Amino acid sequence: MAERFQRILPTVADTEALGRELASELAAGDLVVLDGPLGAGKTALTRGIADGLGVQGRVSSPTFIIARQHRAGEGGRAVPLVHVDAYRLSGDLDELDALDLDTDLNQAVVVVEWGRGVVEHLADRHLRVMLSREPDSEVRTAIWEWVG
Ligand SMILES: Nc1ncnc2c1ncn2[C@@H]1O[C@H](COP(=O)(O)OP(=O)(O)OP(=O)(O)O)[C@@H](O)[C@H]1O
Ligand SMILES: [Mg+2]
Repeated sequence: MAERFQRILPTVADTEALGRELASELAAGDLVVLDGPLGAGKTALTRGIADGLGVQGRVSSPTFIIARQHRAGEGGRAVPLVHVDAYRLSGDLDELDALDLDTDLNQAVVVVEWGRGVVEHLADRHLRVMLSREPDSEVRTAIWEWVG
């Protein structure tokens, strides 16, 4: 059985640090599926992944554009990042192909917020990260595992 990891994330800095750590395991063609409610820290984790990969451009919530492409940065890992928000993609991510991205997904790390149950078919395996939070608390919990 695949290994499952869990970590308590007291602050947003801890969440970003986990993202940087996960980035060190990621390679071109890898898919990361982020799960968890509004404000759980999916974008914060993506910011850490982007930092770890050393890609260009500021990570922000891609809510109004569905997908944002971050080119590989100089001195970075030479792997671009595609950051997708599947919140409004109704159940079927063949739409991701239809987004007509400049970036070849097989050459990029693809991170999908709200991707659970929607994008898994895009890759043979994926890194699933589940983020959760308590009400009125900054503390988040991440559980992650490779699936597939
Ligand atoms: N431990 C923590 N980890 C992550 N974010 C935290 C933490 N504590 C507080 N925050 C705050 O919670 C918010 C998380 O927002 P973020 O946009 O990353 O969530 P999200 O899961 O992407 O939400 P959405 O579903 O709206 O896209 C930020 O304002 C961040 O500063
Ligand atoms: Mg977000």
